Amino acid sequence: MSAVIPIFEVDYEQPAGSACDTRHAWARVPHEPGPAERQQLKDRIRRLLKERNAVMVSHYYVHPDLQDLAEETGGIVSDSLEMARFGRDHPARTLVVSGVRFMGETAKILSPEKRVLMPDLDATCSLDLGCPIDEFSAFCDQHPDRTVVVYANTSAAVKARSDWLVTSSCALDIVRALKDKGHKILWAPDRHLGGYIQRETGADMVFWSGACIVHDEFKAFELEALKKEHPNAKVLVHPESPADVIALADAVGSTSAILKAARELDAREFIVATDNGMMHKLRTLNPGKLFIEAPTAGNSATCKSCAHCPWMAMNGLAGVAHVLETSANEILVDPALATRAKLPIDRMLAFTAAIKSGQPAGALVPHIGAA
Ligand code: 13P
Ligand code: SF4
Repeated sequence: MSAVIPIFEVDYEQPAGSACDTRHAWARVPHEPGPAERQQLKDRIRRLLKERNAVMVSHYYVHPDLQDLAEETGGIVSDSLEMARFGRDHPARTLVVSGVRFMGETAKILSPEKRVLMPDLDATCSLDLGCPIDEFSAFCDQHPDRTVVVYANTSAAVKARSDWLVTSSCALDIVRALKDKGHKILWAPDRHLGGYIQRETGADMVFWSGACIVHDEFKAFELEALKKEHPNAKVLVHPESPADVIALADAVGSTSAILKAARELDAREFIVATDNGMMHKLRTLNPGKLFIEAPTAGNSATCKSCAHCPWMAMNGLAGVAHVLETSANEILVDPALATRAKLPIDRMLAFTAAIKSGQPAGALVPHIGAA
């Protein structure tokens, strides 16, 4: 059995009142530095990272400069799951997280003793914005018999209300293991990812009705037409995309799974349905292969059509240098909330560590009703 319960919808383009989150985000995208300024900023950041015992943790969707510099200086560029693991395990006292707010909060929850800085604290996510804790908690209260599984793209408060945390790297494995142990699932907030997991696992799920403003815009009709123009291309899709787009995929998965598929699939052309920040790594790791952006709604430069997250775009070199210099933009999470939110994150990290090391991860999931 499955049920879709539309609980809370946010119109991101025209929200009630005058404030438009995405327009505000685009208005705060840092200017593109010229070559001399870029070099100066990079040199300054390299020096400050050493002086401050700090390390950069960047997501695949942020500016290529922030991806390359993170790797060059001993940090990481990765998906949201590996960002969490790396930040927790790295000995640096300060983490500079380039991505969106939930990534910084997860890092802080896992390492309360570290200073976690972000280039712009207003870099959020439509999934996080669309899942406010009070409404979400009331939804959970309506389903006391269900195990609450939430996506990492949520606030610390929503995580603290959950039983399990997942990212798109591990959601299938964790929900499958829960189903095998008799759990019925309450899923939040991404309805497309939730629907994909439900179709793949057959788990009994009810869904919060959130969406990613970037992935929600990929269009199946236009994708089919593009496939006809590139008959040998393989289609790589992030599961935050609509079901009819996922149905056209040769590979579905997280940002790191998309990178792996691009490396391993026997093709020279790929159509990619995810944030176009991914193109940097896809192209640098696969010279000689062609990567084409999957079609979105139109060509105007808004968050609804450019396949780039307006909040990821708020991260820039100048912001990283500024926070390292001044310790501004520190992520703080209420310690009591953090203690509760850490439980589902730790479960996810233990589960995925077990899979990585070939251990029986399912043993970490209790049977329904077990203490
Ligand atoms: P990943 O966990 O696949 O990196 O995705 C995070 C995200 O925000 C996708 O839009
Ligand atoms: Fe959130 Fe979508 Fe941006 Fe990822 S790409 S951070 S899911 S709005």
